[in-house]
Amino acid sequence: MPAIVIVGAQWGDEGKAKVIDLLAEQADCVVRYQGGCNAGHTVVRQGETFKFHLVPSGILYPGKTCIIGPGTVIAPEVLKDELDNLHQKNIATGALYISPRAHVTLPHHMAVDGLKEDALGDEQKIGTTRRGIGPTYEDKVGRIGLRVGDLLLDDDTLRQKLAHLVHQKSPLLEKVYGLPPLDTSELLRICHEYRNIMAPYVTDVDALLATAQENQDVILLEGAQGTMLDLDHGTYPYVTSSNPTAGGACTGSGLGPKAIDQVIGITKAYTTRVGSGPFPTELFDAIGEHLCTVGHEFGTTTGRKRRCGWFDAPAMRYAIQINSLDSLAVTKLDVLTGLSEIRICTAYRHMKTGEILTAFPSQIELLAQVEPIYEILPGWHEPISHIRHHDELPPAAKDFLARLAELCHTPVALISVGPNRDETIMLADPIRAAATCANPLDVPLGTC
Ligand code: GDP
Ligand code: IMO
Ligand code: MG
Repeated sequence: MPAIVIVGAQWGDEGKAKVIDLLAEQADCVVRYQGGCNAGHTVVRQGETFKFHLVPSGILYPGKTCIIGPGTVIAPEVLKDELDNLHQKNIATGALYISPRAHVTLPHHMAVDGLKEDALGDEQKIGTTRRGIGPTYEDKVGRIGLRVGDLLLDDDTLRQKLAHLVHQKSPLLEKVYGLPPLDTSELLRICHEYRNIMAPYVTDVDALLATAQENQDVILLEGAQGTMLDLDHGTYPYVTSSNPTAGGACTGSGLGPKAIDQVIGITKAYTTRVGSGPFPTELFDAIGEHLCTVGHEFGTTTGRKRRCGWFDAPAMRYAIQINSLDSLAVTKLDVLTGLSEIRICTAYRHMKTGEILTAFPSQIELLAQVEPIYEILPGWHEPISHIRHHDELPPAAKDFLARLAELCHTPVALISVGPNRDETIMLADPIRAAATCANPLDVPLGTC
């Protein structure tokens, strides 16, 4: 039973959805395991663009089971908009299932997210998506959260739960945030609306996944955000409030660790980041502008301009370790076309002490004090989006990929050269990699 985790290996927006959509053709089931509508996952199918925030990126294939898992947080209005858009485009959602264990984002979560950011000011704000993600997870961890399954309870029981929530939360909302107190009857009314949206999809996904395992189905676990935004392993506090890393795929789906066969890390051929926090290879020059403009680096969810920089090998080696990555899928290689030279950060230098660091620091204070040490490679000028075979890439592009794989000690299984499904060079069958993978980039084989 192959279960494959697709995890963002950088700061999010690596092109996870493109890879999920591509691999979903061979899969039976796609599970979103954490995060919420902070995610913006873009799939381009035959020139038509789909943007997903909550619905798994496998939904475009009719009949594939798509699960929004227990580790997610769901804003029902956002889900409704997404479902309405899909229905308008004649995309069926009958195979979508939502875990009753997922948590519900309520209107006050979104309000608090914005107020907290405003209070922090430009210097200190996290730069969140303001989608209520942090406050929803805060209530989950504080054990006063409302779960999707609660929406289906009888009104008396639901009212009791809401009254408890109101009792716990209202003083905080009023005194700290200056918001009106919560009202149990109003919350009950909102929950009825949410129930109408969600009820057709709520299912015991544990049973679904158990059956999928028994049937030897191929299960894709779709990460949102990325390793460096992980609550525990990312650049805290400039992170999201869940665990996008591969461990989160188990807790967030309900599959045990032994069920996972492969972990594929998605990385851009360069680096981007949205929101605040240190970013050693960030560029503030014309090359940064090239990456932003040619790569259309604007957030899928918020439209914010993404910060752009060179590929960071120490950060990637860390992501490989934290996630047990078997292979890398390198996206947006086409965006590097036209640059006369390309840089890869191989290590960091402490700006005050001169100390060389090859490992990714655990403290952001240290990360903010390093400068990248670059290796400079020649660029290429030929367009590459039409290329489907590794052999046909310009020699400089092949050298860049080979060096990237070598510095990361990890094979590259897939190269993406454009947003469309077919703009892809497959170097191995990522789903059946253990059996079939050649070693096209002349890097250590690993498990691939
Ligand atoms: P995700 O959050 O990881 O799924 O990524 P996003 O959808 O937020 O951002 C990735 C963007 O890059 C989307 O607009 C994709 O359509 C686009 N994209 C994905 N792969 C490629 C590629 O290889 N080349 C180019 N030019 N665009 C790509
Ligand atoms: P996908 O799944 C990129 C960032 C925000 C902010 C931090 C915390 O599309 O890759 P949050 O709203 O989660 O509390 O914000 O995390 N962030 C993302 N950056 N891609 C995402 O999702 C992101 N989701 C959150 O910009 O820095
Ligand atoms: Mg995104």
